[in-house]
Amino acid sequence: MDRQVVYADLKVSRDSSPKNSSPSSLPQDVCQGPPWHQFALKLGCAGVILLVLSVIGLTVSVISLTQKSSIERCSVNVQQNRNETTESPSPLQCMEPWQSFQDKCLLLSTINKPWNISLVDCSTKKSSLLLIQDQKELRQIQMQIKDEGISFWIGLNFTLPEKKWKWINGSFLNPATLNILGATKENSCVYITKKDVYSEDCGVEHKWICHKGVNHYTCISGC
Ligand SMILES: *[C@@H]1O[C@H](CO)[C@@H](O)[C@H](O)[C@H]1NC(C)=O
Ligand SMILES: *[C@@H]1O[C@H](CO)[C@@H](O)[C@H](O)[C@H]1NC(C)=O
Ligand SMILES: *[C@@H]1O[C@H](CO)[C@@H](O)[C@H](O)[C@H]1NC(C)=O
Ligand SMILES: *[C@@H]1O[C@H](CO)[C@@H](O)[C@H](O)[C@H]1NC(C)=O
Repeated sequence: MDRQVVYADLKVSRDSSPKNSSPSSLPQDVCQGPPWHQFALKLGCAGVILLVLSVIGLTVSVISLTQKSSIERCSVNVQQNRNETTESPSPLQCMEPWQSFQDKCLLLSTINKPWNISLVDCSTKKSSLLLIQDQKELRQIQMQIKDEGISFWIGLNFTLPEKKWKWINGSFLNPATLNILGATKENSCVYITKKDVYSEDCGVEHKWICHKGVNHYTCISGC
């Protein structure tokens, strides 16, 4: 008996290969069930897989959503903190030896150098040789100059191909901004005194003025 059963099983398993399955005698009732069962099984399996996948998908999206919102909350916090720190030192102070001037910090040099050296000096101090926006700002800066006999290079020189005055930020001078006394020629740079604005050979030595934004300064000290 046992032997027969084993034999039958073996035969079934051998016969159930795709080619032989249709006409054989024994597998008839075995095969009648399976197409149905298998279909149902496959359907069930697919359902389970779909369910698992959708649960995973949901979990992932929920996690990423909560992370995103917490990141957003973080950046909002940072923004608010930044507002507070920039607004707290209300009468803005520049660090010595820089002096406060409106929304900038100014540094008036005490030594004399050619224009190109002063240009480099300001950039090594993470600042810029002075740029002047208009007549009003020029007058206000001139009020910071104590002695009438001192002259300060600013960030304006004569550029050759164009034969025009050019600010070191790359913009050309609007002639209405400054009335420059002296020659307008090659190798000329601009300095200011308490009273006036002059053109002079860039190789001559003068003092100079560096400026930088206060925001830049507060970040250096506060961050
Ligand atoms: C932060 O600054 C922005 C503009 O820079 C302003 O609109 C906002 O109201 C400020 N927030 C706080 C809390 O001061
Ligand atoms: C400044 O210019 C002089 C002469 O034009 C030159 O010898 C010197 O190397 C320049 N210095 C810098 C820092 O550019
Ligand atoms: C360069 O500086 C001048 C003088 O302050 C200003 O008028 C001009 O708008 C500035 N240009 C740029 C590109 O910032
Ligand atoms: C004028 O300034 C520019 C930088 O803004 C510089 O490249 C150029 O050499 C300067 N010209 C002279 C004569 O120093």
